[in-house]
Amino acid sequence: METAITLGEFIVKNQAAHPEATGALTSLFSSIRVAAKVLHREINRAGLGDVLGAADGVNVQGEVQQKLDVIANRKFIQALAARGVTCGIASEEEDSHITLDENRDAHYVVLLDPLDGSSNIDVNVSVGSIFSVYRRRSPPGSPVTPEDFLQPGREQVAAGYVIYGSSTMLVYTTGQGVNGFTYDPTLGMFFLSHPDMRMPEEGAIYSVNEGYARRFPPGVNRFLDWCREEDEASGRPYSARYIGSLVSDFHRNLIKGGIYLYPPTKTHPEGKLRLLYECNPIAFLAEQAGGRAVAGPGQRILDIEPGKLHQRTPFYVGSRRTVERLERFLAEG
Ligand code: AHG
Ligand code: MN
Ligand code: MN
Repeated sequence: METAITLGEFIVKNQAAHPEATGALTSLFSSIRVAAKVLHREINRAGLGDVLGAADGVNVQGEVQQKLDVIANRKFIQALAARGVTCGIASEEEDSHITLDENRDAHYVVLLDPLDGSSNIDVNVSVGSIFSVYRRRSPPGSPVTPEDFLQPGREQVAAGYVIYGSSTMLVYTTGQGVNGFTYDPTLGMFFLSHPDMRMPEEGAIYSVNEGYARRFPPGVNRFLDWCREEDEASGRPYSARYIGSLVSDFHRNLIKGGIYLYPPTKTHPEGKLRLLYECNPIAFLAEQAGGRAVAGPGQRILDIEPGKLHQRTPFYVGSRRTVERLERFLAEG
């Protein structure tokens, strides 16, 4: 692996193919790479330091913040602010967007789920960080506005995640396919390990919190029944796999093929996952890898016009044909 191309080299090579590029995105990725390394360190020694458990706060969505949520949020913001290419940040852990006034000439805004799956942290199970990058709509030189962040996902310039799993990986897209890089902690570098990731067209894994099944719409339950049927020809029953970290569940399904579902429930009619911090970046990656992501039948996630920062949405993402099959069940009502 030491002879493989590094993340830094890969980004520079891609930039060379676009002579009009200013290098701003390259700097932005440097920020994310630094934050990923810091978080890798914090997460891997989590049992040793004083970083496990709940912090004192509750975020704007009423969720108890874990100490690592707070640390991850701070580290990402610091890393992004330090390089002058990000003019504003919106984070799942912040009430409203942050203006980086010293970077007011910059072109990009970044949206973050700094720590995804944080309930898994205390039990040593994989977690992640998710990022999403847009070109601002307001003119550079002026303060950022809410409209800079409230853009449909199809406008994303880049998106990706870091997964802190059995190894740490950074997976991202700039709209030209998806590439995955594995971190070598002894060298402190990410190496290209998963070039041009493609999601299998059909998958035999379904990932959903079945404990809430009685609250799901009937179409979802009919689809799940179908997944559990015996049928040798189509390889059913499918396997159920649910980690409870979107990043980890999606990463597995990206490689092996499958579908992740977070339906609306009677108690959460909008679903639980956040459109801007979780669903849009994961949907962008899924589509770039040949997969599909919808909020309901025919409702492409990337086409949703967001109305507010912390907006939630039902979320179905995965192998293209498996998602299309689910959509047919949903359309039947
Ligand atoms: P976060 O830790 O950023 O709040 O996200 C947790 C999300 C997602 O990662 C995961 O798939 C889902 O919540 C799990 O929810 P349930 O516990 O309701 O299944
Ligand atoms: Mn999350
Ligand atoms: Mn989170």
